[in-house]
Amino acid sequence: MVQNTNKSLFDAIPPTAGDPIFSLTNDFLVDTADDKVNLGVGVYRDDNGKPWILPTVKKVERLLADDPKVDHEYPPIAGLTSFISAARDLLFGQPDDAFISRCASIQTISGTGACHIGTRFLAETLKPKNVWVSNPTWGNHHLILDLAGPNVKQRFYPYFDAAHCRLDFDGMINTLEREAEAGDLILLHACAHNPTGLDPTQSQWKAIADLCEAKKLFPFFDSAYQGFASGDADADAWAVRHFVERGTMELCVAQSFSKNFGLYGQRVGAFHLVTATPFARERAHGLLADLQRGEISMPPIYGARIVDRILRDEELRKSWQQDLTTMANRIKGMRKGLYDELTRLQTPGSWRHIVEQTGMFSYTGLTPEQVTKLKENHVYLLMSGRASISGFNERNIPIVAAKIDRVVRETAGAPGGGEANGKTNGHTNGHSKGHPQKENVPVQHTDEKATESKEFANIDA
Ligand code: LMR
Repeated sequence: MVQNTNKSLFDAIPPTAGDPIFSLTNDFLVDTADDKVNLGVGVYRDDNGKPWILPTVKKVERLLADDPKVDHEYPPIAGLTSFISAARDLLFGQPDDAFISRCASIQTISGTGACHIGTRFLAETLKPKNVWVSNPTWGNHHLILDLAGPNVKQRFYPYFDAAHCRLDFDGMINTLEREAEAGDLILLHACAHNPTGLDPTQSQWKAIADLCEAKKLFPFFDSAYQGFASGDADADAWAVRHFVERGTMELCVAQSFSKNFGLYGQRVGAFHLVTATPFARERAHGLLADLQRGEISMPPIYGARIVDRILRDEELRKSWQQDLTTMANRIKGMRKGLYDELTRLQTPGSWRHIVEQTGMFSYTGLTPEQVTKLKENHVYLLMSGRASISGFNERNIPIVAAKIDRVVRETAGAPGGGEANGKTNGHTNGHSKGHPQKENVPVQHTDEKATESKEFANIDA
């Protein structure tokens, strides 16, 4: 029996900051104010601010509960076979047999698990020198990449033009042209970029694909919002399918079903590796299955069964499409509502980007100081100014907009080149060599700054 002494082998563990997204949720939960609003974590909420079980999902849960053929046996190591092919077909759009023979797919623990196993796999097989990530990207990407590919250096490509709250496409292309090396990985958000809500246009995607081809970069898509962004699963898969249709690159995709099926806690996902040959597909699938076995043995089945049933049944699939439309339209409506209210209040700054961005999030352009003040006023969003639009509803939009209006007038900085208190938005790159899990802060960077090795654009959240 270990005695309770004053010393432990683990005393030397440095303190961790915790995950900024989920710490914020905890702060929100202990806040007792009646008018508190959580714009932090990216989860869908209905117009009453409540979690929404998709009606189609609810229906299938009842079907599963009554199905005598459903048991709790182990699935194959790669996951539920029919789910895996349904997931692949949703992403790639009913691919032909030739494609299927070259695509190694496994079920994963949602998008995080897919990013993790994909990084491990690529780190071991391709041994890339660098992985290029957008600046900013989903905060957890840094931690996943660090843990699963510790020898792969994380580099930034510019993505967000903080002065105008828009995509810094030229910065992205110029930096990659100049600095990316053959064999590097490039992490791309398939749609509904998290955290900025800014996606390339189709012609910009084509230019990114040209660049990947020319520079021999390996595209690694993170597809966490298919169908959730536009309401149309095919439209949201356009970029991935374009890269595949070119037929010139091997690539991979981490796929999540958390948002588009509202199955957050069920951890449903898949990883797909598109190879050049059926032989490579066999080898790759074998290695992926080995990694899976050693790490989790096999993935959980409940949520995957729900997705599988829905995607394979014409009626259920139609009904799910309707659910997607409901979620996407409500979010678009909330964007417009917030924009209209800030415009009506003549809040300093330009707010057009709120309606131009897409998906779950808006990168509002609010500064860390403004975010802190909003939190004091019971409105919770990330220090980067990222707001989960789903946290808005008809009732709280006027309340939150009034609070935003007040803090913007009281402080320095207004989004989109606007002015408040005589000063423009002054986000800076809070370079920190701390734990890479921390949240990104919008940066007005030069190309050089953005690519300064593994210095994350973080601040202490
Ligand atoms: C988010 O970005 O808020 C969501 O994807 C939840 C998460 O796991 O970070």
